[in-house]
Amino acid sequence: MTLDEALGLIAELPDFPEPGVVFRDLTPLFGDPKAFATVIDALAEAVGDVEQLAAVEARGFVLAAAVAYAKGVGVTLVRKAGKLPSVGGSVDYDLEYGTATLELPADAIRPGARVAVVDDILATGGTVAATQSLLAEAGAEVRSVAVVLELAALGGRERLGDAPLHVLKTV
Ligand code: PRP
Ligand code: HPA
Repeated sequence: MTLDEALGLIAELPDFPEPGVVFRDLTPLFGDPKAFATVIDALAEAVGDVEQLAAVEARGFVLAAAVAYAKGVGVTLVRKAGKLPSVGGSVDYDLEYGTATLELPADAIRPGARVAVVDDILATGGTVAATQSLLAEAGAEVRSVAVVLELAALGGRERLGDAPLHVLKTV
C-alpha cells in the first residue's frame, strides 16, 4: 500500500465535537494493518536519528510505540494531568476546544538525549508545543517532531519550537 493510499483512509466527520468543526478521524487508518505499517514506516524515517521518542496521550501513544519498536528506541509517555505517581514536569496548554495539563514522568529523560515527538494530529499546536517545552525543561535535545496530519488552517506550526516538523499529510 502506498503512503497516499494509507493516508486516504483518514475520515472526515462534520460537526464533531461541535457544529462547524470537521473532525479528522484516524480510526480507519489505525484499523488497517497495511495502512498502519506504511504510516509507521514513514514516521520512523521522518523522526531521524534519535535515542528516544516522546508520545502524547492518547492517540500519540499508539503511533509512537510502534515507531519506537521499528527504530529500536524507547518511548516516554507524556500524560494528561493526574495519571503519574512521580511527575518530572508539568505544563498547561490550550486545545482547539478547551484547556488541559500535560505531565512528564520523573527521570524519564536523560539530559542531552536526542528526542523526537510523535503525535497523530497537529491542530493549534498547543499539545506539541507543550510537549516540546516539557522535554526542553528536562534537558532533552528535541531533534524533530513527526505527525500524521497537519490542520494547516489552525496555524499550529507557528507555535512550535525550532525542531524540524515532519508532516505526512496536510489539509
Ligand atoms: C488531539 C490530538 C493531538 C492534539 C492536537 O488530542 O491527538 O494530540 O489534540 O491538537 P492541538 O494541536 O490543537 O494541541 P486530544 O487532546 O484530543 O487527546 P486524545 O488523543 O486523548 O483524544
Ligand atoms: N481530529 C482529531 N483530533 C483533533 C482534531 C481533529 O480534527 N483537532 C484537534 N484534535
